[in-house]
Amino acid sequence: MPEPPAFSAAQNLRVLFTREQIQARVHELGRQIREDLNGESVVLIGVLKGAAIFLADLARAIHVDCTFDFVAVSSYKSGTESSGAVQLIKDLTEPIEDSHIIIVEDILDTGITLSFLRSHFEHHQPRSIRIAALLDKPSRRLQPIHADYIGFSIPNEFVIGYGMDYAERYRNLPDIRLLESASK
Ligand code: IMP
Ligand code: MG
Repeated sequence: MPEPPAFSAAQNLRVLFTREQIQARVHELGRQIREDLNGESVVLIGVLKGAAIFLADLARAIHVDCTFDFVAVSSYKSGTESSGAVQLIKDLTEPIEDSHIIIVEDILDTGITLSFLRSHFEHHQPRSIRIAALLDKPSRRLQPIHADYIGFSIPNEFVIGYGMDYAERYRNLPDIRLLESASK
C-alpha cells in the first residue's frame, strides 16, 4: 500500500469529476428519484462514512418528504483491498417497515457491501428498496446487484474526494480525484 500523499499533494491529483459535474449529476438523480416516488415519502439510508456527502447533496435535490438514517459496515479494513467479509458496525435507528427506502452509497465496487445491506434491510420488510450509488465500477463486480440510480460509471481506478477516502483521508476534497498510484 503506498504512503498516503500529503493533503496538499492530493489537491493536485488528476480530477475525474469536478464539483460542478457532480452537482449537475446529483440534481438529475434527484429529479429522477422525485418522479419515481410519485409524491410518497422516503427514508434515505446512507452508508457511512463515504456516502455522507453524497447523501447531504442528494437529499437537497429530491424535494420530497424524507428522513435520514445511517448504517456503517466494515469491509475495507484500510487502503484499497476488500477483506471480502462485511460486518455491520452500526444499524438503523428507526423502523423501516412499510417505508420506501433508498440505500445511498458512494461506490458500487464488488457489490459485496450492497448485497449484504440489501438482504439485511429486506428482513425489515420495507415497502420498496432502491439503491443510489454515486459511482459504479462495473468491471469489479463479484456479486450481482442492481443499482436504480448511478451517478457515473468509472473504470477500475481508485478515487478519492467527495466523501471517498484512502486510509480515511481526503473525504473533504470537493472534486473526485484519481489516486493513480493505488489503482488495481
Ligand atoms: P464493495 O463491497 O466492493 O462494493 O465496496 C464498496 C465500498 O468500497 C465503497 O463503499 C467504498 O467505501 C469502497 N471503495 C471501493 N472503491 C473505492 C475507491 O475507488 N475509493 C474509495 N473507496 C472505494
Ligand atoms: Mg463506503
